[in-house]
Amino acid sequence: MFQPHDTALHQPHVGAPRNRVDGRAKVTGAARYAAEYTAPDLAYGHVVSGAIAKGRIRSIDISAAMAVPGVVQVFTHENRPRTAWRSKAYQDEVAPPGTPFRPLYDEKILYSGQPVALVVAEDSEIARYAASLVRVTYEEEKHETDLAKVRAQAYKPPKTRSGMAPPAPRGDAEAGFGAAPVKVDESYRIAIEHHNPMELHASTVVWEGGGRITVYDKIQGVQNTQSYITHVFGLSKDDVHVKSPFVGGAFGSGLRPQYQLFLAVMAALELKRSVRVMLTRDQMFTFTYRPDALQDMAIAANPDGELQAIRHDVIGNTSTFEDYQESIVSWSAMMYHCDNVATTYKLAQTDTYTPGDMRAPGAPTGMFALESAMDELSYRLGMDPLQLRLKNYAEINEGDGKPFTSKELRAAYQLGAERFGWARRNPKPRSMKEGRELIGWGMASGMWEAQMQKTTARATLTIDGKLEVGTATADIGTGTYTILTQIAADALGLPMEKVTALVGDSKLPFSPVEGGSWAAASAGTAVHLACNTVREQLFKYARGMDGSPLANAEIGRVAFRNGRMELISDPSRFVTIQDAMRAGAVDRIEAEETGSPSRITQLRYAAYTHSAIFAEVRVDEELGRIRVTRIVDAVAAGRILNPKTARSQILGGVVFGIGMALTEESMMDHHLGRFMNHNYAEYHIPVNADVHDIDVIFVEEHEDKINPIGVKGLGEIGIVGTAAAIANAVFHATGKRVRHLPITVDRLL
Ligand code: MOS
Repeated sequence: MFQPHDTALHQPHVGAPRNRVDGRAKVTGAARYAAEYTAPDLAYGHVVSGAIAKGRIRSIDISAAMAVPGVVQVFTHENRPRTAWRSKAYQDEVAPPGTPFRPLYDEKILYSGQPVALVVAEDSEIARYAASLVRVTYEEEKHETDLAKVRAQAYKPPKTRSGMAPPAPRGDAEAGFGAAPVKVDESYRIAIEHHNPMELHASTVVWEGGGRITVYDKIQGVQNTQSYITHVFGLSKDDVHVKSPFVGGAFGSGLRPQYQLFLAVMAALELKRSVRVMLTRDQMFTFTYRPDALQDMAIAANPDGELQAIRHDVIGNTSTFEDYQESIVSWSAMMYHCDNVATTYKLAQTDTYTPGDMRAPGAPTGMFALESAMDELSYRLGMDPLQLRLKNYAEINEGDGKPFTSKELRAAYQLGAERFGWARRNPKPRSMKEGRELIGWGMASGMWEAQMQKTTARATLTIDGKLEVGTATADIGTGTYTILTQIAADALGLPMEKVTALVGDSKLPFSPVEGGSWAAASAGTAVHLACNTVREQLFKYARGMDGSPLANAEIGRVAFRNGRMELISDPSRFVTIQDAMRAGAVDRIEAEETGSPSRITQLRYAAYTHSAIFAEVRVDEELGRIRVTRIVDAVAAGRILNPKTARSQILGGVVFGIGMALTEESMMDHHLGRFMNHNYAEYHIPVNADVHDIDVIFVEEHEDKINPIGVKGLGEIGIVGTAAAIANAVFHATGKRVRHLPITVDRLL
């Protein structure tokens, strides 16, 4: 559908494994993060976290804190400036339906760890010490933080979050299930997980005078932050400049502005002074997280493995003030060919903060249930798990009947299985052993949306042969700077060193938040389009030169390389960028272009990335210790802009999946209604010793319908299905099926 004008495009960089353009800045410390910016007269805020899960603040005594030398002010709900919360209903770009949490709004306590005061002092240690002196008394109410205890109160969300409508049922799942001879009907549960990026959430607000502020925020969307601030504090866009050039991981925790931003801006505006608020590691457990989910999954098949019915019923937890929703059940309606499918998705309120999007929100959760059940079914059928999946391969999107823009999952299964050596697997559980370790091989499928969002980019070429491109998206460590540089360099035939990519600044052209694996497709397309416009302008100048060697040439017959435009059929006929610009009497060419998703593609096609994951585990039979010794992840994600940064994305996703399967669990003390293991020592993220061989394969997949650069996105597909593949391998090793993640020793033995 998209006619790649680039049949003649010389592309030495796109598709090549280039190093990160920001790599050096990152490893030398030159890259600065939100809490590393400073300002003359900077004050430091420390947050006082509430101690109960539900109730109200009866009294709050700040006198001891205020008496500490160096304390500037202590803000509470009683004295917070009335300028804040001008617009009560304001929702940020990615807010679910409901009323967003408003820090220091009133005396009500909605969840444990809720910020109840901000101490601002001349230095951070004074602020921290004084915060310990703030005395709060509470009127406690009975809370409930256990999803299992409130499942009877589950409800269908009255307002659907955009794009999260559960799929329509098809056929008759009840009858199909009843009639089929081979069945699985089980319950699955995952643990609450926290995002735990390396960089703590922080905001440095620089008071510029005259009511204007520059905000360095740890965020995945600078313009979303800007819009939040202008609405909440009634400021104009010109007064609020937001920057976030580097983000030390976020995984979704930076999609929405978090409470430290509100507190830092409020304090800066009130004190007319620069203020920084950085959360502590334990405070990182006082906001968003991947929700708990209770899942019932029933699937049934004929003896030959043909699926006859899929039922998937999910209850996820949300807060008492927002209806957070994610797409847990939709995968069950799309992944396989099956005529009878019914799903339900409900929420139940717990006295917790609102859950949020965390890497591939909903997909690894739902796919854990579906892909575990498929594995269980394969044993009941006596059929190879991979064969079962191939038998029920969905040629079209089974959810809505639309063809896929591209889907090379079959190739992914095949290449992944070959690389892994799947054919050598002894299907019998507990049949493979080495020393005191049981060996298990398991596999699963993965699926995620290939999205694109309307995004604008600017490209500026100057006569010194330098090109600058920019859009207000974020690079959260994913490699956005690098791929934008590659795309721009190839468009104008420049070395990457001559190109500067800019992101993470609210003054740059419009971009939505970076998320949903859409940044490469969206920002990449916008940069591609802006550079094309520059390219065409440049070519016009070249052709119009007196006695131009390209006088009669078409742009499609010309290669842009080495800083010049050369006739492909005769490279000795060329015009340099400088000569063309001189001929045009300009010293810069600037263009701004907007890329939008194709309406026709959206109407007619389904766009998804796919993966096939194969996992090997070794289980110490006596100790119950599980090691994931080998993963092969074969990914079909359209065009790969940079195999090196792309591979890193998949590695990160797979490690996330290992964490989900084996170690990551935010443990709630339901008596206190508080997460207990709020630190890196007790919340276990896989470390190097837990991560062994991960082999990433990118399957050839020709994609020409989603966007002109053929990109589908890679940030999330790596985690989807990985936990299921590992759980399936654990069953194959041990004969024990664990349906509650993570598979810790106590659940396995
Ligand atoms: Mo991602 S969970 O959309 O940052």
